[in-house]
Amino acid sequence: MPSSTFIRKAVFPVAGFGTRFLPATKAQPKEMLPVVDKPLIQYAVEEAYAAGIRDMIFVTGRNKRAIEDHYDTAYELESQLEASNKLALLNIARSVMPDDMTCSYVRQPRMLGLGHAVLCAEHLVGDEPFAVLLADDLMVGPPGGEPVLAQMTRAFATLQSSLLAVQEVPLDQVRRYGIVAGDPVDAGLTKVTRMVEKPKPEDAPSRLGVAGRYILTPAVFNHIRNQPTGAGGEIQLTDGIAALLKNESVYAYAYKGTRYDCGSKEGFLQATVELALAHPEVGSQFREYLKGLALG
Ligand code: G1P
Repeated sequence: MPSSTFIRKAVFPVAGFGTRFLPATKAQPKEMLPVVDKPLIQYAVEEAYAAGIRDMIFVTGRNKRAIEDHYDTAYELESQLEASNKLALLNIARSVMPDDMTCSYVRQPRMLGLGHAVLCAEHLVGDEPFAVLLADDLMVGPPGGEPVLAQMTRAFATLQSSLLAVQEVPLDQVRRYGIVAGDPVDAGLTKVTRMVEKPKPEDAPSRLGVAGRYILTPAVFNHIRNQPTGAGGEIQLTDGIAALLKNESVYAYAYKGTRYDCGSKEGFLQATVELALAHPEVGSQFREYLKGLALG
């Protein structure tokens, strides 16, 4: 049983190379690519913060220093903005790192997969349930509603079991996801009985695809550790969870909101257009601009 009903820690695996965005990611982390005016990682960290989490754990790699700098004081910038009395901008720069938030960093020394990345954070997580957020998946809660991870931490408070955010995906896309199958227990809640990483359409046990938000009990670490390499020759988080569910309940949670797959160019562009349209500063002008485009 988990030792805490609250989720205090979030793990952000950010060591990947982001090859799908080359050349943009040649010298900068893909998690620092901005959607409108905020880097992808900040959307994920803000989502965790909104769910009450204050301990952020980044599993980083080489060439990821910009993420650490983003979550640090920017002395020159801040004193410049202060001296020129640009207080609104100063506030934007400072609010990236709220005073009550802590950031820890651990290196994933080799690219051995998502499961391995999560395992690298084990000593920082300790023996308590924790969240995992993949910043590639930009999640926006329903209009006026709770952000996705907050929905999940609330569900966790009752269920006290691991939870995976899921959405229905088209059959021809199941090979991009961890796919789960199980028994419906409530509206939007399925008790998982099977989980498989990136199956072929003909082998998929369902069309319920895992989005990049997880709440996991610490027992998952041992299961990951005992996994052989799986899909793509990597140590898969999915395989660790598939082993976990033989001992503990794991639930698939159909979140409310929208997921943008910012690991793909198409999803990244969709997020950019839709978040720009909703942006208080540029939204209405951008809408007029789009209306004027002669789209065939
Ligand atoms: C990872 C996981 C996969 C999950 C997906 C969500 O895959 O391995 O199970 O469905 O994230 O975005 P990746 O997109 O890193 O290949």
